[in-house]
Amino acid sequence: MENTPVVQMRNITKRFPGVIANEGVDLTLHKGEVLALLGENGAGKSTLMNMLVGLYRPDEGEIYVNCKKATINSPQDSMALGIGMIHQEFMLVGNLSVAENIVLGLPGLEIKPNFTEIGKRIIELSNKYDLGVKPDSIIDDLTVGEQQRVEILKLLYRGANILILDEPTAVLTPGESKELNSIIKKMLSEGKSAVFITHKMNEVLDFSDTVQVLRKGKNVGTRATSTITKLQDIANLMVGRDVLFSLEKGEFKPGEVKVELKDVTCITNTSPRPLLDHVNLQIRSGEILGIAGVAGNGQQALSEVITGLRRTCEGHIFLNGIEMTNKTPLQVINSGVSHIPADRNKMGIVGDMSVGENLSMKKYRTEELTQHNIVNKSLIKVFANKLIKTFTIKTPTQYTNAKFLSGGNIQKTILAREIDSCKGILIAVYPSRGLDVGATETVRKNIIAQRDKGAAVLFVSEELDELQMVSDRIAVMYEGRIMDVMDTKDATTEKIGLLMAGVERSDV
Ligand SMILES: Nc1ncnc2c1ncn2[C@@H]1O[C@H](COP(=O)(O)OP(=O)(O)O)[C@@H](O)[C@H]1O
Ligand SMILES: [Mg+2]
Repeated sequence: MENTPVVQMRNITKRFPGVIANEGVDLTLHKGEVLALLGENGAGKSTLMNMLVGLYRPDEGEIYVNCKKATINSPQDSMALGIGMIHQEFMLVGNLSVAENIVLGLPGLEIKPNFTEIGKRIIELSNKYDLGVKPDSIIDDLTVGEQQRVEILKLLYRGANILILDEPTAVLTPGESKELNSIIKKMLSEGKSAVFITHKMNEVLDFSDTVQVLRKGKNVGTRATSTITKLQDIANLMVGRDVLFSLEKGEFKPGEVKVELKDVTCITNTSPRPLLDHVNLQIRSGEILGIAGVAGNGQQALSEVITGLRRTCEGHIFLNGIEMTNKTPLQVINSGVSHIPADRNKMGIVGDMSVGENLSMKKYRTEELTQHNIVNKSLIKVFANKLIKTFTIKTPTQYTNAKFLSGGNIQKTILAREIDSCKGILIAVYPSRGLDVGATETVRKNIIAQRDKGAAVLFVSEELDELQMVSDRIAVMYEGRIMDVMDTKDATTEKIGLLMAGVERSDV
């Protein structure tokens, strides 16, 4: 790392209606440096970076690029300065090809671009960085991991040498993250500079030279990564209080069986093997059953058959002792099932409705929120404010549209609604994915609290330490099958790891 600053942000303030997203923030990035920008969901990280790529303009403060004062009014301006960003939410157009997406918005593009030439250049870059991206693929046909690599190729194609990576691994599986990280390392080895936003501490230590922490829009510390001896210190700095890395859990007192699957099998014509293959499971009241497995091995299908979102081809599902095989989602909800889905934006919230409306969505038909059969606005107001407070949802007001919240706060909104309305069965799919340490702690605590109150919980996660911390028993899924179910105390990391890779129990 040389000592030349390539980016200096000085005293940056940015306000949105009702929030100060950044307040007097300074940030310096040197040539060849990787700066890890950390902070809780909603701390202002994306906002700060969006000002470097011309999506927002600072209300106050100055930006210098390569020691010259810069006015960045548009993505084109930032591109001309060699700055490129991979956004938290993908910015690709789904029904266009990779090549079309890559040249979209490039300055000086002819009316009929020469796609043979463009394709050649894409293949060249793809080979050089091992991206496996083909110019003619349609974006919608690609997996999330592949789309992420298209975003990277877009930056390379445009010759960016200052890279901003906004939680690039948050939506990826561990395998995809590892691949992505080695690609990023390769890019960085060529002297490019980068700001890397992530919640994963191992990535921070692995990649960065410097760590800068934001809290509530303000800078609260900048450290050389090499001087960080305890991750706990960084976590505390982010949250502004001591974060517990272990959880308190009441005694394990399982009761009657609340969820039972007998030989449940699901076949689709889009997949060569069954999504679920003769699954047998029981979850009792007062019990958290953790599901381990690499994403895509049937976890999602499992949650969908239980919640009525997917049809079972064979087998039986019992909820609270009553057969509920292939009932509608509404019938399942009415039988007391709450669901925290994997895809929060598509399934969990309605972005154009307010936070308060999203919170009351499952209860507006009930006595709690109606008077004489009419939804009562003041009851909703009190109800929503109570949940916002209990779950520390960061929102200017309950009338703000849900889509304006940061990812972590959208997740908290779903969680608040589902946990508040939980009547005995909770299906939680990757509930802490992409969340910061503080929000993750809140999520885990609340799930355990439901279990302590007697709920039967299905808890899907990819993080083994999280599963071991939260679950009472752990089942491992591989290719739609349950490989084994064991008590958490017997579920060592090695054992789960082997089962996740498809090694049979008798061989473990
Ligand atoms: N376009 C916007 N309109 C209104 N508020 C916004 C907008 N973008 C971000 N915010 C608010 O600014 C704050 C910081 O958000 P953000 O920069 O996305 O945080 P982070 O990336 O650290 O999670 C949050 O309170 C968020 O709700
Ligand atoms: Mg963000």
